[in-house]
Amino acid sequence: MNFAYLVNKDHFLPSCFEPAKLYTLPNNKKIDARIIAYYIYLKEEALKNGFNITIDSAYRSYLYQEKLFKESIKEKGVEETLKMVAIPGASEHQTGLAIDLGYYDKLGYHEDVSDNPLLVDWLKDNSYKYGFILRYLQNKEHITLYKYEPWHFRFVGIPLAYVLKHNNLTLEEYYLNPKKYQNIISNFDYPNIVTYAQICALLLLLKKKVSLKELANFINIYKQKNPNTIVVSSSLNYIKGLQKKDNYLYINDIDKDELIYFINDELFDFVYNDEELSRKLNITL
Ligand code: DAL
Ligand code: ZN
Repeated sequence: MNFAYLVNKDHFLPSCFEPAKLYTLPNNKKIDARIIAYYIYLKEEALKNGFNITIDSAYRSYLYQEKLFKESIKEKGVEETLKMVAIPGASEHQTGLAIDLGYYDKLGYHEDVSDNPLLVDWLKDNSYKYGFILRYLQNKEHITLYKYEPWHFRFVGIPLAYVLKHNNLTLEEYYLNPKKYQNIISNFDYPNIVTYAQICALLLLLKKKVSLKELANFINIYKQKNPNTIVVSSSLNYIKGLQKKDNYLYINDIDKDELIYFINDELFDFVYNDEELSRKLNITL
């Protein structure tokens, strides 16, 4: 899976480009479904450090970017707009892999993390551990061709994010000589990240109802067979339409259809490649 392709002022996406699988988060922002677990992992680790981050803007269609671009031109003029807002087709937001982060604190919602310098520093130092890079760096404006944006993060995967962070590189600089880092990236030992809610979603797709005990058992089996796995967040809020009754979880058929977008391919493969497990799932764990 290549998460690292360039989208910038020299590399445009076609206007018809849409990510293959988008998932709608509880706050109605859409992101590429393959990065849900990484975002939730980042969010949880930020929370452990006292920061309640949230996504202010994520996937943006070509048409929506066009609207933002035109509005900005009216408000700020062409020159300023080009330093801050991508021309339609040149925005990473169209990939579904870019997120603009805001946060909540006791004063309420802040649409931009730059209101909190401690949070800006924490994200700058740590986001790479979850596969996200700060995309428009300070002092690299002449390379990225955008002003510093402390809120804009781009998912590139954990190995590449590590390389970019430790070599202080932008994605543009990396692509000048990607071979130089190929060995580190190919041999990088990183965990498999999955969320509790994704595992629950998988079981709900396969069965009519799921007991909390079955869910816990399945997670144990999954962890045993995939020892490098981190199961993040026990929050089931990410599953739209989930109902809980007498220690059983249910979902109606309409919401069930959308679950398919929430589950990552590795989880599907895990069940379908293990005959014994899939047999057991049809009965009970
Ligand atoms: N603000 C960034 C550059 C975008 O519009 O995609
Ligand atoms: Zn952005």
